[in-house]
Amino acid sequence: MRMRGGKTAKAQVSAVSDATAAPVVPAAPAGGAGAGPAAAPEHALARRVEQLAQRYPDDVGRVIGLLNDVQDECGYLPEEALHAIADLCDVSFDELVASARFFKTLSTEPVGKVVIEVCDGTACHTQGAVRLAQTMADKLGIEIGQTTPDGLFTLRLVHCVGACSVAPVAVVAGTAYGRVKTANVDGVIEHAHAALKEVDRRGE
Ligand code: FES
Repeated sequence: MRMRGGKTAKAQVSAVSDATAAPVVPAAPAGGAGAGPAAAPEHALARRVEQLAQRYPDDVGRVIGLLNDVQDECGYLPEEALHAIADLCDVSFDELVASARFFKTLSTEPVGKVVIEVCDGTACHTQGAVRLAQTMADKLGIEIGQTTPDGLFTLRLVHCVGACSVAPVAVVAGTAYGRVKTANVDGVIEHAHAALKEVDRRGE
């Protein structure tokens, strides 16, 4: 996650308890605030996976590192990237997909126009992140990890987003909100609708 202005968002946080208030971590995700990932040119993802693999000179941690990196950059794990990782790491494609589906922070499905993330790192987990995410899922009429049938909103759990002091944290279209309570969920969803309008206004 990135701060507006390009700095990595870690700890530059002022807490809010009301999700209708100002965000705690203004941030724009890779590929544009709130939008699902742009379509990548053919083979561009395979080349990007090769670049990312240079972060992992040893075999140890390469597979999961690449899965997490692609998830972060694309918002999900496109099939082309999975094939590239399978080739690079000498694992079967099916095995890789099974691994990706095992981890709740990874997704093999494309995401909606606006992504709502609930941090499930340790601090947020102990502050009821899963219950919070489940409340949002119920409001949206989906399960955690799914996209609404109209393709507009994706809800998922993610690793620590670096704002632990204001846990639990929800991130809507790249903007983080701290100390979100289940009573604030309607406010979070309102932010998601506002982000959707912005995405539509930009024609994404
Ligand atoms: S555990 Fe949620 S922000 Fe760190």
